Amino acid sequence: MKLYEKLLLENKAWAAEKTQADPDYFNRLAHLQTPAFLWIGCSDSRVPANEITGTQPGEIFVHRNVANLVVNTDVNLLAVLDYAVNHLKVKHVIVCGHYGCGGIKAATTNTDFKAVLNMWLRNIKDVIRLHRDELDAIDSEEKRIDRLVELNVKEQVFNLAKTSIIQKAWKQEQRPHLHGWVYGLKDGIINPVTEMNAGMHIDHIYEYDDL
Ligand code: CO
Repeated sequence: MKLYEKLLLENKAWAAEKTQADPDYFNRLAHLQTPAFLWIGCSDSRVPANEITGTQPGEIFVHRNVANLVVNTDVNLLAVLDYAVNHLKVKHVIVCGHYGCGGIKAATTNTDFKAVLNMWLRNIKDVIRLHRDELDAIDSEEKRIDRLVELNVKEQVFNLAKTSIIQKAWKQEQRPHLHGWVYGLKDGIINPVTEMNAGMHIDHIYEYDDL
């Protein structure tokens, strides 16, 4: 059997199992999507949003990219955010990074990963520069990278708060609640590191009039 054929076979078994346990399962999901959460996570195959939070299909709207970045020129991320906030009306947006993130580690080196990856990882290098004093004071390389993972999540939550999409929803509907979490590959535990709520102020240069 080819590697990919196993996936299709497992899919059939999974669908049969679901239908057996609840004959209306797919009918119900096909007609309704009302997730309360938007998840912005790392593409890393070891951090599957549903599995680590014990949630089912239909409960979390998911966007993943390398190192869970919120980049203000990323049309893909912004389209997901706009749809989740303004149409699905999610109550929570979670940015979830993870300790041992390859993208974060790569950004701490001076390696030339060539055009596209360099462009992407540059966003993390900017986080390093913003927090250089705190990071340089940490002796152990592992601990320094762990802290960078946490600081990166904080900055990405902050990047969400800079968008007019979030500011407008905060002003008009007092939602969504923003969360920054870090998942531990070694123990499977999620460590909440930051949160932001409607009414919180950020540097006024980012705050829009007349939302
Ligand atoms: Co990662």
